[in-house]
Amino acid sequence: MNKVRVAIIGTGGIAGKHAEVLQQEVNDADVVAAVDVREDAVKAFSERFKIPAYYTSAETMLAQEKPDIVHICTPPNLHAELSIKALESGSWVLCEKPLAASLKELDQIADAEKRTGRYCSSVYQWRFGNGAQHLKELIDTNAMGKPMIGICQTTWYRDDAYYAVPWRGTWKTELGGCSMGHGIHLMDLFLWLYGPWQEVTAKISTLDHDIEVEDVSMALINFENGAIGNMINSVVSPRQETYLRMDFQESTVELKGLYSYKNDQWAYSSYDGSNHAEDLKAWSALDSENRGIFGNQVRHHIDCFKRGERPLTSGFGARMTLEFIASMYKSAMTGQSVKRGSIVEGDPFYEAMNGQTS
Ligand SMILES: NC(=O)c1ccc[n+]([C@@H]2O[C@H](COP(=O)([O-])OP(=O)(O)OC[C@H]3O[C@@H](n4cnc5c(N)ncnc54)[C@H](O)[C@@H]3O)[C@@H](O)[C@H]2O)c1
Repeated sequence: MNKVRVAIIGTGGIAGKHAEVLQQEVNDADVVAAVDVREDAVKAFSERFKIPAYYTSAETMLAQEKPDIVHICTPPNLHAELSIKALESGSWVLCEKPLAASLKELDQIADAEKRTGRYCSSVYQWRFGNGAQHLKELIDTNAMGKPMIGICQTTWYRDDAYYAVPWRGTWKTELGGCSMGHGIHLMDLFLWLYGPWQEVTAKISTLDHDIEVEDVSMALINFENGAIGNMINSVVSPRQETYLRMDFQESTVELKGLYSYKNDQWAYSSYDGSNHAEDLKAWSALDSENRGIFGNQVRHHIDCFKRGERPLTSGFGARMTLEFIASMYKSAMTGQSVKRGSIVEGDPFYEAMNGQTS
């Protein structure tokens, strides 16, 4: 059977992970081309991964190669524009996070999906570990009872050298701070597992970096099912940790990691004296892992492409988390709680994450 033809646009830091996964963790894809505006970078990248063609223009690559799928790994401010171009020239898209600069851009991507009949997904790899998929199934079948309270904590550290990269630290090019660029992974997992979210009240602050965007954010969340959650995102935390805790009526589920996780990082517990010992064994039993979480998302995307089905992190699956972040920013900047669905055309926070349209 013919392999799926994939092209990578943007050949900086994260692109190597995409190439490695496509070449080593899935066996039915060929990376046929790479693109970067920096010729030296794309040439070196193509040599390293033995990619047969390289380009310095995405438009030329799309016209000449007609790839089945495009992976977009450029700085964030280019994601929506390149995603729409790729959809319109015949490709499906798996785009790095954050997928868009605003809810307006997300709607433009949705329109392009409708026009072309193709799908554009956001990289949200944390949903794709076996442990997350297993827990989602348990939640959806009500195995552990109602979700009650959740804690979603991304406490990371980024130094001045990190923010010396020109596209980082500004609203225009990074599109937001630690909420949009760092906490987005765990927030997406939490909101997908516990959601849909209903209302958010947030604070943001820039405590210790010379940047425009926030380096700390905190939020209180109400979920439609009655659960409440508490969220913290930071890039000023010297001992780094990514921690998720969800208390259900019958069980507490925790995940501790940093930039990725494996099955053994999930923990299930019940209260002392509970009669759920047998259930706990079943709840904690996970399928063996043969790929990392990133590889699982790429596998899912290729499978959806082959079947012509909408991938999990496209459409509403991409919007839910970005709408949450837009609402966090609106709440922090206006001092009011924000309900899901309330930021619509005409609202400055529909046009831009920081509500500034000029
Ligand atoms: N999913 C994850 O865990 C994860 C981890 C790191 C970064 N990211 C995301 O990946 C994206 C890229 O981050 P990075 O650290 O690799 O950045 P980077 O700066 O290392 O690489 C970006 C590359 O894109 C190239 N580029 C710029 N404009 C281009 C254009 N018009 N056409 C083609 N190439 C262009 C740049 O020359 C550069 O080589 C960001 O959105 C970031 O948030 C995701």
